[in-house]
Amino acid sequence: MSEVFDNVCTPKPCLVGPEAGPELLNEHFGRRSAVRFLRDEKLGGMVAQLTAGDSVATVALRGAQVLRWSSGSTTDGLLWLSPDATLANDKPVRGGVPICWPWFGVHPTDTSAPSHGFARTASWCVASTAVSDDATCLSLQLSESAKKNAHLPDGAHVVFDVRLGRELKMSLTVVNTGVKPIHMTEALHTYLRVGDISTIRIRGLENKPFLDQLSERAGNSEPHTITFDGEVDRIYNNTAGVVNIDDPKLNRTLRVRKEGSQSTVIWNPWREKAERLGDIGPDGFREIVCVEAGNIGCDEVVVPVGGVHRLGTSISMHPLCSR
Ligand code: BG6
Repeated sequence: MSEVFDNVCTPKPCLVGPEAGPELLNEHFGRRSAVRFLRDEKLGGMVAQLTAGDSVATVALRGAQVLRWSSGSTTDGLLWLSPDATLANDKPVRGGVPICWPWFGVHPTDTSAPSHGFARTASWCVASTAVSDDATCLSLQLSESAKKNAHLPDGAHVVFDVRLGRELKMSLTVVNTGVKPIHMTEALHTYLRVGDISTIRIRGLENKPFLDQLSERAGNSEPHTITFDGEVDRIYNNTAGVVNIDDPKLNRTLRVRKEGSQSTVIWNPWREKAERLGDIGPDGFREIVCVEAGNIGCDEVVVPVGGVHRLGTSISMHPLCSR
């Protein structure tokens, strides 16, 4: 197990689903002020509220989606969440960290299948919670109803762990309990909040070739940091290293580390696509950059029979790196 995710909670059998309601969930898994389950009035669905020191995170049981994360004096939070976000229908929530699984983007053969897989709108249940001196952990598993989804790979046992401390760590673990290999693509689609997309710089992907999803062609690798003056939608394959997002307006650097991830997606829809998507708000695109840990295209994962694959990411905040 790697240094980054050593402390992620160990999954246990699934006990209680969102339909149980906050009382039962709190009785089984609530931990004083560190873990509380509640129905979020604004979002209209069941969430877990995690607290660790001065960090607070909200995780929806629908989609196992981390929706909000704030730390210290970051009043607006470190993740971007759509002002229109709701858990009250079956549409994916734009923002936070949707889980793209068991495929990323368009399904390889079934054009009627939802973009980015079914996990982000599926129902998840609580397997365990844990609290230590420096972190609060929540472990979720696909609920029994989600396991009936026709697109669930045979024999896949799926766990999502959140570890909230000074950093936010998340991991998606797939265990193959079946009789044939599981093929999958995936991403933890982090919507990071930035001060102004046109002033940020992304370091860590210099000189790396990428697939430009806008032209569907291989883009030329660039020797310099990534900056934005229009829509960007790129998949960088064979990139396992650290990515830094320098944000002069918010005077901070966000650092994204990855585990079991060979692909990195960089996405900002810019104004026109944001208007088409309809749930980003008039100028919302200015406050978003997605830096997604994944395994896509040639980095597709094959989990052998009896095997385990874990995709993880951790995000931390630092004083602005002025390099
Ligand atoms: C990104 C993709 O990961 O997700 C983009 O690279 C896509 O191509 C974006 O537009 C949002 O996808 P969706 O399905 O959540 O609208």
